[in-house]
Amino acid sequence: MERGKKDIAVCFPFKKEDIEDFKRNVKEALSHERVRDILLAGHSENETYKGVESFINTLSDDERSRIHLFTQKRIGSKRPGKGDGMNTAIKYFVENTRSRFLHFYDADIKSFDRTWIDRVQKRLDEGFDVARCFFPRAYTDAMVTWNITRTGFAYTWPDTILPDIEQPLGGELGIRREVAEKLSMDELVLDASDWSIDTALTIAFARYNVKLYEVYIKEGKHHKLYGKLSDLETMAVECFNVIKENRRLVIDTSHMVYEKDKIESVPEEYKKRIAFDIDGSIKEFKSGWTDEMKSIVKEYLPKDVSLKVLDAVEDGNYDFMDTNMWYDVYDALMKHFDIKKQAWRRVLFKLWVLRVLNHAKLALKDPDESLKSLQEMVELFRKKRLSRV
Ligand code: LAC
Repeated sequence: MERGKKDIAVCFPFKKEDIEDFKRNVKEALSHERVRDILLAGHSENETYKGVESFINTLSDDERSRIHLFTQKRIGSKRPGKGDGMNTAIKYFVENTRSRFLHFYDADIKSFDRTWIDRVQKRLDEGFDVARCFFPRAYTDAMVTWNITRTGFAYTWPDTILPDIEQPLGGELGIRREVAEKLSMDELVLDASDWSIDTALTIAFARYNVKLYEVYIKEGKHHKLYGKLSDLETMAVECFNVIKENRRLVIDTSHMVYEKDKIESVPEEYKKRIAFDIDGSIKEFKSGWTDEMKSIVKEYLPKDVSLKVLDAVEDGNYDFMDTNMWYDVYDALMKHFDIKKQAWRRVLFKLWVLRVLNHAKLALKDPDESLKSLQEMVELFRKKRLSRV
């Protein structure tokens, strides 16, 4: 650790948050001896924003002078969301601060404390350009990560390190100023104004060949789990689309340094925790099918898959959507998915729900086996794409 220096900026992008958690996290970051700037990037001047504003007024002059509160600018061309927030913060950091490092943490984490900053910064001090956190997750959680992103990376860039990254959607990370400068001029990243930002950053790190370290935060990221899977519909669609859109990018990571912490064991409590409402999700899957959605399934999915999907609309049976079947679905989505069409977005989500339900059943029966099957799925995607002619 370099001593006596204040050289870190910590950013919390936020929208609508529990104000007490948020305040505590800001205080934790403020109390860190190396933190110079706190960047609070708000979605809009909403209730949380106003709450934070009055909280700042209660702080000492020194603390107040280190806090930069602003709302996000409209930077990308996709839906205005988290990406605009992070990109606004990156630009702000480059243009208005002198800190050497920029860290990001979600505002709503209940388990955040200043040691997270130490653990991330340790790797940056060792010479890594990017240090990104990963966490133990319930075996039924991380379903976008596994079934959309890691599989998508394996499908699109099978001979790179991208599919091996544990949590490519993680929003807790630290970067060097040089990396922030590059990101602030990177069209792919700037355009990712929605949930695609985390994927866009991951792709950017691979393209820049940064020295990347993944830091395991064993106590976990305590935040709220999801209700119904439909809470994740927009995220699943946006995370898929950014990979599809960039599928022609050539990425070579053969000279990239990538290291991660070893996971000793996953705490038992995570294995059987159910991240969403299973029965509610089956009902949701069965409802809302339009003729247009059904014809997409018929026209674009392989015949054996489409027949089963249409049966599932009637009987809710998701047993067939195993990892092999998911490859065929993914292949069809990569070729034909069209984000501009509402029917396509809904179909993608519904297919993903079948995959998630299929996995959840296995996770409940045999957690360890289910985790293995996710890892094997990524390797299956990779193998199939590497061996294609
Ligand atoms: C994921 C989202 C759901 O990582 O948090 O898949």
